[in-house]
Amino acid sequence: MSRPQTYSQAKAYSKGRDDPKSGDCVVSALAGQPLDSAAVGTETELGTVGVGRRPANADESARANRRWWDADADSYHLEHGSFLGHSDFVWCPEGLREESAQLLGPTAGLAGLRILEVGAGSAMCSRWLAARGATPVAFDISAGMLRHATVKGATTAAVPLVQADAQRMPFLDNTFDLAFSAFGAVPFVADSAAVMCEVARVLRPGARWVFAANHPIRWAFPDSPGPDGLTATMSYFDRNPYVEFDADGSATYVEHHRTLGDRVRELTAAGFGLLDVIEPEWPDGFTQEWGQWSPLRGKLLPGTAIYVSELC
Ligand SMILES: C[S@@+](CC[C@H](N)C(=O)[O-])C[C@H]1O[C@@H](n2cnc3c(N)ncnc32)[C@H](O)[C@@H]1O
Repeated sequence: MSRPQTYSQAKAYSKGRDDPKSGDCVVSALAGQPLDSAAVGTETELGTVGVGRRPANADESARANRRWWDADADSYHLEHGSFLGHSDFVWCPEGLREESAQLLGPTAGLAGLRILEVGAGSAMCSRWLAARGATPVAFDISAGMLRHATVKGATTAAVPLVQADAQRMPFLDNTFDLAFSAFGAVPFVADSAAVMCEVARVLRPGARWVFAANHPIRWAFPDSPGPDGLTATMSYFDRNPYVEFDADGSATYVEHHRTLGDRVRELTAAGFGLLDVIEPEWPDGFTQEWGQWSPLRGKLLPGTAIYVSELC
């Protein structure tokens, strides 16, 4: 897989991961390559020179991803804004909507609930919930992403916005009746076990926690929407994160992996019971690609896993 193709598929829920061998650091020669997308502009702005698999702790991952999402926020919304909508609740690139999936429970029952959105981006899902009578709070680590929430929210019911790291939530215990995330924070943090514990802490007993993330099986495949994205080339079991780095070796973007079993263990250790794992199928006739998500791959492999859990 060529690097320009990889970078041109970046700025996704999952960025276009290149194909570094486990443990290696692969220095990329971006110079001279056709940098043909806005996300490549982000890599250039951040001084990214290479990608690899290496450990990245909680602080390094959070710092890199905050900067990356700040820098990419405009491009992200330019490319995906119409798919995500203004006041809409889409769980994943397969286009599954809360309106039909009802993973948070019956929509009619959401009115009056205090709901936390984790890694909210521009908070379109929270606005959808507010329009149905719920009381959402949306938080994200990136001021750039939250700036889009401020602009989009100017014409609708106000949703409180908070800038925070999901690994250390600035909310009191037992505050929310429901929590959810549509690809926010969870794939990007080094300590997703801490995120599960933090969500458990701020929820009331019996509350639901539903989050969408990359389907773990995709980790083993190159992030390409085409045929080269159909051959496993990396170990599903390699928990070393995907790291992009600058000339000093500092991370400029980090994406972490957990196996399916890891996710279940992190949830149960935090006190959640797992009710379901939804693997949305690629809808017939749906042709819209999102980075590595494509009809070709979607017909053969799951791209998203949505974990539905309840605090015991
Ligand atoms: C793919 S976007 C999803 C945003 C929104 N849910 C959407 O569908 O557009 C991922 C979001 O996670 C946020 N994020 C990454 N790391 C985070 C962290 N440690 N704590 C909170 N948010 C984080 C990013 O800033 C970004 O807004």
